[in-house]
Amino acid sequence: MSNVRVVEHALLQTSLTVLRDQSTPLMLFQRHGLVASKLLLTYATENLPTKPKRIQTPLAPFEGTQLSEQIVFVVILRAALSMLQAAQELFPESAIGFLGIQRDEATAAPKRYYVRVPDLKGKHVFLLDPMLATGGSVEDALDAMQGKGAKSFSLVSIVSAPEGIARLTTKFPELHVVTAAIDERLNDQKFIVPGLGDFGDRYFGTNDAE
Ligand code: PRP
Ligand code: URA
Repeated sequence: MSNVRVVEHALLQTSLTVLRDQSTPLMLFQRHGLVASKLLLTYATENLPTKPKRIQTPLAPFEGTQLSEQIVFVVILRAALSMLQAAQELFPESAIGFLGIQRDEATAAPKRYYVRVPDLKGKHVFLLDPMLATGGSVEDALDAMQGKGAKSFSLVSIVSAPEGIARLTTKFPELHVVTAAIDERLNDQKFIVPGLGDFGDRYFGTNDAE
């Protein structure tokens, strides 16, 4: 599991606890979704290639740093829309792709219904999905992007299940996974336990959706 990183940052774990709490109201859930996403993205991108940049401070010349390669974020609809603001605030010049992938409620099998992904050639791709359960959705997303010339793939997920981690690291050994937690297990309905419930429903206030 050398490519799997669980970020233990105190602020991230505090936000995750708010997200897990079933009494957390909608606005607070949204706010902590943003905080958790920003912190995870900070860690997920910490080793991106850089190059020197010569600038002039008000007092002296200075050799600083700038990112040297392009990155792309790919959002798995719908729950990962919660991570988009964080990605765009931190990397405003990055292109964003969208994959519509819906888990079948009875079988948990992923169904891809929408693909709109920019050119991936030579790019570092950061796949965003707050929940990694069986791994079916992310596997389908990575399958959809294979052979398009991406330089690297990373998954940024807030809560992961051991089942999903095992599935992805077996099939995609080069994949980097950055997550705030690897929980205990999946239940019979393929929900993460203890988890936080249905992230999309809690973030978009659709708990009562048909
Ligand atoms: C949820 C979640 C992931 C997926 C994880 O999405 O956002 O995409 O399930 O489960 P898996 O690892 O077993 O594939 P869902 O399909 O429920 O749709 P939503 O984002 O619209 O809520
Ligand atoms: N999707 C979620 O939103 N939560 C889970 O626990 C599993 C899949």
